[in-house]
Amino acid sequence: MASIRILVGSVYGTALMTARELKKSLEPEGHTLIINEQPELSDITNNTDPLLVCTSTTGQGEVPPNLLPFYLELRDTLPQQPGRPFGVIVLGDSSYGDTFCGAGDLLEEALLETGARKTGDTLKIDALETPEPADEALPWLRTWLAQL
Ligand SMILES: Cc1cc2nc3c(=O)[nH]c(=O)nc-3n(C[C@H](O)[C@H](O)[C@H](O)COP(=O)(O)O)c2cc1C
Repeated sequence: MASIRILVGSVYGTALMTARELKKSLEPEGHTLIINEQPELSDITNNTDPLLVCTSTTGQGEVPPNLLPFYLELRDTLPQQPGRPFGVIVLGDSSYGDTFCGAGDLLEEALLETGARKTGDTLKIDALETPEPADEALPWLRTWLAQL
């Protein structure tokens, strides 16, 4: 059974609520999901758990303020994580056009530069189509876990 570290980025709480629902659903099955609500770089450098980014998008395709310090430090220092599995769940709104789910792309790019290995395709959840993000995120995460 996997121990997963979830790095949350959330402005209004939807992505955080989604992460909490994933934890609530999967821990009874024996998985361990550690939610980092104010992620710091040490949250990933002091362990080797697979990483799951669960973030919304703000501004013009930007990373939410609570995840931004982590993202900037990651991007600037690129602590090497060769082969470490990671996945991305990103919330957005397709009415934002070109910046749809942009925060997920930024995190993915930075993690790939550390040598981490992307597992599965990014799950992009469109607020216009999906009122309950966990309905999409839970089956996606089960598939993701099976690929680890
Ligand atoms: C001020 C603001 C800016 C946003 N900018 C974007 C954006 O650039 N791209 C996008 O896909 N979604 C954008 N969104 C939509 C949010 O990512 C989406 O509503 C998400 O579900 C919010 O999740 P949260 O409650 O965890 O922050 C924006 C929402 C707000 C309120």
